[in-house]
Amino acid sequence: MTTTVPVPLAANAYDVVIGNGLLADLSQSVRAAAPSRVVVITDAHVAPLHAEEVARELGARVITVPAGEDSKSIATLDRVYGELLAPRDLDRSAMIVALGGGVVGDLAGFAAATLLRGIRCVQVPTTLLAMVDSSVGGKTAVNHATGKNLIGAFHQPAGVFCDLRYLHTLPQREYVSGLAEVVKTAAIGDSGLLELLESDVIALLQAQPAALAPVVAACVRFKAGVVADDERETTGRRAMLNFGHTVGHALETLFPGRWLHGEAVSIGMMSALRLSQRRAGLPDDDAHRVERLLRAFGLPESVPPEIETFELGATILGDKKRDGGGVRFVVLRDLGQPELLACAVDDALLRILMGYGDA
Ligand code: GLY
Repeated sequence: MTTTVPVPLAANAYDVVIGNGLLADLSQSVRAAAPSRVVVITDAHVAPLHAEEVARELGARVITVPAGEDSKSIATLDRVYGELLAPRDLDRSAMIVALGGGVVGDLAGFAAATLLRGIRCVQVPTTLLAMVDSSVGGKTAVNHATGKNLIGAFHQPAGVFCDLRYLHTLPQREYVSGLAEVVKTAAIGDSGLLELLESDVIALLQAQPAALAPVVAACVRFKAGVVADDERETTGRRAMLNFGHTVGHALETLFPGRWLHGEAVSIGMMSALRLSQRRAGLPDDDAHRVERLLRAFGLPESVPPEIETFELGATILGDKKRDGGGVRFVVLRDLGQPELLACAVDDALLRILMGYGDA
């Protein structure tokens, strides 16, 4: 059974299709769009598993980049432009299919946003994280030496196909990392989803399609609503999706490669929950429900003790969500009630984020 979630944008509406085996749906949708050429962009992990099947079905050529965050670079982007343009067979009705996780989605999406002033891109996420978050909403980017995602564009996809079959070839650690973004969605937006997760931990850890399909659909539905409300992150609603990301990004910056994105966000959510309890009135029982879920999924919880408070503070201040001398954190007043809280980055704040008791 497939579920279709519309992303009802005024100028760039599209559908997210969720199901277990979507090759025929993808093919039908691409053919209906009548592109002059189709190019699949993927990475070296996904290519041997799934790219040939997709490329054959779509009559596409394939560009493969190295797997990993390092490919979200201007150097790899330049190589991709070269491989896109060298055969001289693309015009503005060509289409890119991004087949992979968040790195491929962001890189291929940005290539599509900029090539020939913008061509269409279909997102085919192969990781849970990309299905429930990064493939929906049109954020595309590469990293710069001075920070993550600093060179980018909003470029909505022409469609998104979340084929749960791909999750069977995803390493368990990466899959569980994606569950962190699922928990995030439940915490900031959807109490029904929170209950669904609490009632199905084992089936979800096993990626059973019957348990997973409604969870992915709920996350996509929530994200589609947020994106439809605040496509370009101007009203503050979309910024709520960054719950747990301020400390999460800082940890990724301090220890590149030590945590997968969702793992860093899990630790960041624990910090944000403590901050919410202390400064936004989040009831302890509600914070504990979210903490228990992160723990049940085996996600990491603690800021490692070897990090000095001043290092965390300096790194957070280097993050792009600065606001004067302080930082705006997404906190919860209640479950499903996120808000932005401007905080001075001082010892008291850092002790809360690190999980230390009062001085
Ligand atoms: N992943 C956050 C956003 O799409 O806005």
